Amino acid sequence: MNESATMPTAVKVWDLPTRLFHWLLLGSVCGSALSVFYFENMTWHAYCGYAVLSLLLFRLVWGFTGGYWSRFVSFIPSVQRSLAYLRQPDNWQQPGHNPLAAWSVWAMLIVLFMQVASGLCADDDAGFNGPASALVSNRTVELLTFYHAGIGKWILGMLIGLHLGAVLFHTFYKLQPLVRAMVSGYRLWQDRQVMFSTDNKLQRLKALGVFSLCAALVLAGVYILEKAASS
Ligand code: HEM
Ligand code: HEM
Repeated sequence: MNESATMPTAVKVWDLPTRLFHWLLLGSVCGSALSVFYFENMTWHAYCGYAVLSLLLFRLVWGFTGGYWSRFVSFIPSVQRSLAYLRQPDNWQQPGHNPLAAWSVWAMLIVLFMQVASGLCADDDAGFNGPASALVSNRTVELLTFYHAGIGKWILGMLIGLHLGAVLFHTFYKLQPLVRAMVSGYRLWQDRQVMFSTDNKLQRLKALGVFSLCAALVLAGVYILEKAASS
């Protein structure tokens, strides 16, 4: 057999914007947790939450316009595909999120969004409240605060725990360097016909524009809500 046919190729899986999104998301979620549990600083808690929201909005747009493996169509959750993957995980032919990871990524994005949305309407009864809390009824504030600080934080914590468990399992048991791929963007892959994610200068510039717009939207939204609440 021709040796070059068996040599794996470095395939660009995660474009730079997706990798930055991931590591900034990790930083902002840790920042939200540290600010509330360790530093007890609700202002920084809110800032980290706004960063999470800006990143989530960016990821929503990037799910349609990002590199091939970052697009939502490349990891639509499917029971059929998950079962097929579970039966023969080693035969899985795609370098992006596998069918089980697809569930976990979607769950994480949705639960993070719910955490931020409920935080925006939460009240700590000690002088800090989310900027949207003045717009909803007291009962809604109570319920969303209960969700945010009583339920959502546990669901999010469980999902992050599961995520770290899966990453460790793939890294140390299956010997698949997924973390390295989330840093460098590349995975070694046998199939040369596999799709590459576009990650050129223009694409990165587009991502910067999209992220700046998302962050501006969040900041403007918070400013308007705070103004409306104080008037
Ligand atoms: C607050 C903690 C974390 C959150 C909220 C989080 C969230 C996510 C999300 C949303 C994705 C999907 C990326 C995308 O397609 O946009 C992802 C993927 C990934 N994360 Fe994390 N992550 C966290 C911590 C970590 C840590 C600590 C590591 C490893 C050191 C890690 C390694 C990875 C890897 C390797 C992938 C790609 C998985 C795959 O190949 O399917 N994550 N993470
Ligand atoms: C992903 C982002 C966020 C995470 C991970 C997060 C996490 C948490 C956690 C774990 C608590 C409970 C702390 C405890 O048990 O004492 C909490 C409380 C709180 N958070 Fe967040 N939060 C986020 C975003 C936000 C945002 C954007 C706001 C509003 C601007 C906000 C407002 C609040 C308030 C007011 C409380 C106090 C609730 C109470 O005392 O019952 N959070 N948050």
